[in-house]
Amino acid sequence: MTPFHLVGKTILVTGATGGIGRQTAITASQMGAEVIVTGRSEAKLSAVLAELAPGNHSAVPADLVHEQNRDEFVAKLPPLDGIAHCAGVTLLHPFKFSDEKRYREVYAINVEAPLFLTQRLFKTRRLKNGGSIVFIASLGAFIGARGHSIYAGSKAALVGIARVLAHELSGNAIRANCISPGMVKTEVVDGFANQVSAEVVAADEARYPLGYGLPEDVASTVVFYLSPASRWITGTNLIMDGGLT
Ligand SMILES: NC(=O)c1ccc[n+]([C@@H]2O[C@H](COP(=O)([O-])OP(=O)(O)OC[C@H]3O[C@@H](n4cnc5c(N)ncnc54)[C@H](OP(=O)(O)O)[C@@H]3O)[C@@H](O)[C@H]2O)c1
Repeated sequence: MTPFHLVGKTILVTGATGGIGRQTAITASQMGAEVIVTGRSEAKLSAVLAELAPGNHSAVPADLVHEQNRDEFVAKLPPLDGIAHCAGVTLLHPFKFSDEKRYREVYAINVEAPLFLTQRLFKTRRLKNGGSIVFIASLGAFIGARGHSIYAGSKAALVGIARVLAHELSGNAIRANCISPGMVKTEVVDGFANQVSAEVVAADEARYPLGYGLPEDVASTVVFYLSPASRWITGTNLIMDGGLT
């Protein structure tokens, strides 16, 4: 059998009600995984569940901010072969107007949630030996785009965290990697267009040799990192940006 499959694997996808997470759940199910989807919106989770390829999938709603929520959430999960951390928020806000409240809100979901959710899963033995952890960071961590000071910092944190986890969890053959996409056509891009204008977004996309990405582009790469095909890859960060950088 091809090593690119997820047959027999149980995969948790956070942010599964969002653009990248939803498609990651769909692609993982198409590659044979049993998928557990999570997000805050129960209605959206039900809709995603209906889109998955046939299989024994489930939805477990949770707000992943706050330790108690995460502990209650983890207690409902079976042992996992992989985690795709797709939950997160994007903030475009000039540095001189940034404030600590926004900083804490962004870091709570972009950094604390994936870090301490992973820790809880590991400590309760719900992350099997040989498992794979994928964090969705961002190109923003690398290019210094205006307005991204808080967001870029939160995503750079994930890159550092993944490298350390790759080291510390290697004794259990658990891998940790990051994917750092440029602009991907989800509601995030719609929000960007509302903040600036459709013309500014079109001009930005024109800078990408291959245009903005699609959720499918990121999802296929997440599945690769979750699959046995990437069993010798850990501690890496993959920039996906249609050639921009
Ligand atoms: N789209 C892009 O251009 C792009 C580029 C680079 C990196 N990224 C990163 O990729 C990830 C996914 O992006 P996306 O475009 O798919 O975003 P999205 O469509 O806005 O989805 C965000 C997801 O995060 C979940 N979420 C937010 N706060 C949460 C909380 N407190 N508890 C649990 N879940 C929460 C949302 O769930 P509910 O709505 O159900 O609460 C939703 O499923 C994000 O980390 C983003 O920063 C995106």
